[in-house]
Amino acid sequence: MPSFASIPLHAVLPDEDIECEGDQGQFKQILTNLIMNSSAAGATEVAVDAAVAGVDIIIEVRDNGGGSRESEVPFIFERYYRGSSRRKKKQGLGLGLPLSRLLARANGGDLVLHATSEADAVFRLSLPKPPAP
Ligand SMILES: Nc1ncnc2c1ncn2[C@@H]1O[C@H](COP(=O)(O)OP(=O)(O)OP(=O)(O)O)[C@@H](O)[C@H]1O
Ligand SMILES: [Mg+2]
Repeated sequence: MPSFASIPLHAVLPDEDIECEGDQGQFKQILTNLIMNSSAAGATEVAVDAAVAGVDIIIEVRDNGGGSRESEVPFIFERYYRGSSRRKKKQGLGLGLPLSRLLARANGGDLVLHATSEADAVFRLSLPKPPAP
């Protein structure tokens, strides 16, 4: 079984409740996958920010786990793809990101790697805001 260290999780949420339309269990699955990836990347801190941007809810998961290599970025959402640093160290199938993207899209949203550097990685989940009543 893979073991995951306990790491601080900072959440920055707006004062008002945010509502998004879709399957709550699937949203949890996406966020769990992203946070598990941060942990597997060796992050010592993870920040989750949520905000409303126009017709979308934007949730960003940022970690300081060293980011993704530029040469690997085009592949990380491919099924069964695992980064070279990850392959040796931790168990996994390379399905977490493709599944998470599929779930995001099935709910009318999307999941992208928004930014990466040698220090950090930022994944951005967008979900549709429910239509005004
Ligand atoms: N937060 C992150 N920081 C750095 N690299 C990442 C991060 N998240 C994903 N990656 C890279 O993307 C690859 C694919 O991620 P994905 O979640 O699909 O597979 P996995 O975590 O290796 O296996 P599984 O999710 O099936 O257990 C990872 O192997 C890793 O190289
Ligand atoms: Mg994963």
